[in-house]
Amino acid sequence: MSDRTVLRDQFGRGIEYLRISVTDRCNFRCVYCMPEEGLPWLPKGDILRYEEIAEVVRQLAPLGLRRVRVTGGEPTIRPDLVSLIAQLRAVPQVEDIALSTNGAKMIAMAPALRAAGLDRVNMSVDSLRPERIPAIARRDLGFDPVQAIDATIAAGLAPVKVNVVVMRGINDDEVEDLARLTIDREVHVRFIELMPVGDMAGLEFEKVVPSAEVLERIARLGALAACAGPARGNGPATYHRLDGAAGSVGVITPMTHTYCGSCNRVRLTADGRLRTCLYGDHEVMLRDAVRAGEPLEPLFRQALADKPREHSLLQLQVGGLKALSQVGG
Ligand code: 5AD
Ligand code: SF4
Repeated sequence: MSDRTVLRDQFGRGIEYLRISVTDRCNFRCVYCMPEEGLPWLPKGDILRYEEIAEVVRQLAPLGLRRVRVTGGEPTIRPDLVSLIAQLRAVPQVEDIALSTNGAKMIAMAPALRAAGLDRVNMSVDSLRPERIPAIARRDLGFDPVQAIDATIAAGLAPVKVNVVVMRGINDDEVEDLARLTIDREVHVRFIELMPVGDMAGLEFEKVVPSAEVLERIARLGALAACAGPARGNGPATYHRLDGAAGSVGVITPMTHTYCGSCNRVRLTADGRLRTCLYGDHEVMLRDAVRAGEPLEPLFRQALADKPREHSLLQLQVGGLKALSQVGG
């Protein structure tokens, strides 16, 4: 451990985790994430090629980067994602490669992604009811999220983390059903407090369901004890296990608590900006330097020097952010 060169920001937080957005586009239009008509998409020429993304990772790796997560938009809609996973796997310092997806393509893609070196998957599942999914995702791709979870596990990508954005009056009546998935499957279902950012189909503060309330509902299913959570998930969730369950339930509380003090992540946007906080305008353009073949380390250091102590979401200063899909969630 001591021989690791760890990049540190101005508050001493080490950065070992990079979220990589490979596209700003999505095959869904989730009500909390994107306007129905979509967003002004990035021009193709502005988006980093896979070789360019791999170059950023190769230059960050000797500075302490250990874990990467591929996100979007929806990463699986970008052609040949498997080849990016293989390029990331070839970077020796990278210990863990994860993917965040809505699951719609996982039945088809999970085996090839696993074979290319993917380690694990987070899947967004906001409802298990076939008639309700298109109402939340505003697209009817006709897929069954439970089948997608099971196909992902069968491909060797267990445990699967399932992310649920809880919205009052929209899907909060499914909290218990979603928690039941953990009883006989190796899945960790994480319930996320809705963040009412941007222009979001009337999703306001009253639709936020505090995580304490979610845990109370799950406790109706049986004894619930705090547990350690999945080994490699050093994220912001806290975990609990239903008595005898194979998996766990967790809560992520961006609205009722902040965990910025232990934030260990930076984000690479699809168009090659390194973003050090979800909110606000803390970012440094890497694309031009990558394309010019210049060293990136000075830019990494500049970005980290500017990483803020914490976000100001609770004060509602969201810095012009219209959707989390634009910054890779
Ligand atoms: N509130 C909470 N979570 C969100 N996500 C996207 N938009 C929001 C929001 N407004 C997160 C969820 C979702 C993933 C794609 O991004 O975790 O599952
Ligand atoms: Fe797509 Fe995920 Fe946003 Fe839904 S939440 S629109 S699946 S990026």
